[in-house]
Amino acid sequence: MKRTDYCGRIGRDFLGRSVSVAGWVHRRRDHGGVIFVDLRDREGLLQVVFDPDRPESFAIAEKLRHEYCIAIEGLVRARPQGTANPNLVSGEVEVLVHAIEILNASATPPFSLDDENLSETVRLQHRVIDLRRPMMQKNLMLRHRAAASARRFLDGHGFVDIETPVLYKSTPEGAREFLVPSRVHAGQFYALPQSPQLFKQMLMMAGFDRYYQIVKCFRDEDLRADRQPEFTQIDVETSFMDEAEIRVLMEELVRTMFRDALAVELPDPFPVRSFAEVMRDYGSDKPDLRIALVLTELTDLMREVEFKVFRQAADLPGGRVAALRVPGGGAMTRKEIDDCAPFVATWGAKGLAWIKVNDASKPNDAGLQSPIVKFLPEATLREILARTGAADGDVIFFCADRKRVVDDALGALRTRIGHQRGLVEPGWKPLWVVDFPMFEQDEATGAWGARHHPFTAPKDGHDERFASDPAAALAKAYDVVLNGWEIGGGSVRIHRPEVQARVFESLGLSEDDQRRKFGFLLDALRYGAPPHGGIAFGLDRIVTLMCGAESIRDVIAFPKTQRGQDLLVEAPSPVTEQQLRDLHLRVRGSDAPRVQAG
Ligand code: AMO
Ligand code: AMP
Repeated sequence: MKRTDYCGRIGRDFLGRSVSVAGWVHRRRDHGGVIFVDLRDREGLLQVVFDPDRPESFAIAEKLRHEYCIAIEGLVRARPQGTANPNLVSGEVEVLVHAIEILNASATPPFSLDDENLSETVRLQHRVIDLRRPMMQKNLMLRHRAAASARRFLDGHGFVDIETPVLYKSTPEGAREFLVPSRVHAGQFYALPQSPQLFKQMLMMAGFDRYYQIVKCFRDEDLRADRQPEFTQIDVETSFMDEAEIRVLMEELVRTMFRDALAVELPDPFPVRSFAEVMRDYGSDKPDLRIALVLTELTDLMREVEFKVFRQAADLPGGRVAALRVPGGGAMTRKEIDDCAPFVATWGAKGLAWIKVNDASKPNDAGLQSPIVKFLPEATLREILARTGAADGDVIFFCADRKRVVDDALGALRTRIGHQRGLVEPGWKPLWVVDFPMFEQDEATGAWGARHHPFTAPKDGHDERFASDPAAALAKAYDVVLNGWEIGGGSVRIHRPEVQARVFESLGLSEDDQRRKFGFLLDALRYGAPPHGGIAFGLDRIVTLMCGAESIRDVIAFPKTQRGQDLLVEAPSPVTEQQLRDLHLRVRGSDAPRVQAG
């Protein structure tokens, strides 16, 4: 039997035709002498019918069980009146089977493919079966279309696909790296790249002008719903383009991917906001703009009050007092309001004050219900209502602390309340965030680190500020945010060796360290490096959003768990004593897993 078509594509236009299809038995129903099988392939389901008039086929059909792999040949006919399924391409037709062949029997599957409440552990242990589920087939097919669209776009714009090494060098910056021991060089290690950052820059220095790669990156970080230890970037670099030009081209790439893969038209252009603005208004550098709630700045106002909690935070260098007004939030129950405090506490907030606005014309005990009204003068309350724009029936939340804590706490509360109270508009809200700070300070150690990466160029005129006021130096860095997810980030790079050396110096890298870790870069920069810049998109995240999935694990064929394990192949796993010996390694510590026997 030579296959002629995909099951899921056989629609009305096939009526009266003879077809031959192959796939898996999704369901089997015996209906008083007639056997119906929903046959499944990657394109969808097809109802096939076995009639006792053909005893040979019928006898085989009686043996079919879930997930048997079969091929059939038969005639496409209309389903009887009233039995059409409008959700399927093949919903109006069925195939009357003339011949069947069992290509392979199946053991009883570990779960029903229709089960919607499977634990992720079970799914990942039996990933091959899990991937057969129509949702997973749809997700991975969509991922393919998105990636193919990106390639077409980049090819069409003169970007050259060039591969870069996976065995790289350890240059600790940013996330923790995965190390690979060298057999030939005892005691030495490769590192897996966190991204091909410096290779793509060196390809610009080598004159390729425009590069891209859809490439695996490796980061040994704490995992979350939007993070995997190995993930895929659409990695791009270009020479001779400035920040705005790169953004224009790259947002067209994103629009093209959404158009091709999802038939969705994203806004043109994407709005652009500075880092300072989004932190002020949303407390987050990846705000979900589908939620219309904004923060209100109150720091200046609270410098004038006696209420200690607010006053102290307002007077703190780097302190902040801000409010979040929730329209209609007065309808929240006392319990709902009280539950917000432990939520913001996970972001370090020591408290969460609130005011229920019953009558905005009476900015005192009479019109406002709140544990803090008694501490604030009427003029201040009036000003709070004016600044937040609060109306009767609203609730206003307050947080006072170090800026970082207030931003995190109210930023997260904004998203949570937005979802809880149905304030998330449907649709797609992309955003460019620009003018990031060059550096950020580690809260624990006080050390300055690069906010994006140390190869990012400062804004014009900002390199004089490195030494005197590192916090004020801004970078030519940009992120793309979509519906609250950071889907990409990049920057214009430093192309002058002396500027690069100065940034390394600001980060506390001695000249020795600079040479040891990045000598290759500093050398390459000396031979006429062109101005260049680029970006990397998180393909897994983009596809997760396109699919409406909850976790990037649902758009990766063989993902790792939150604990970094592959439950299908059982990785990581112990190795033999001989393998360790070859690599000049010994496993330390008493709780280390015993090495595998010989
Ligand atoms: P960055 O570190 O911002 O930039 O990464 C770019 C994009 O990759 C995605 N991403 C991840 N996706 C899944 N799991 C992870 N652990 C993970 N980490 C990052 C995000 C992010 O926006 N070399 C620079 C890019 C450049 O400057 O050109 C870089 O890697 O969507
Ligand atoms: P207290 O006087 O400590 O009982 O606080 C009065 C109100 O202020 C309570 O509702 C607290 O939840 C709230 N509160 C305490 N600390 C903070 C803070 N850092 N930011 C915002 N509200 C706070």
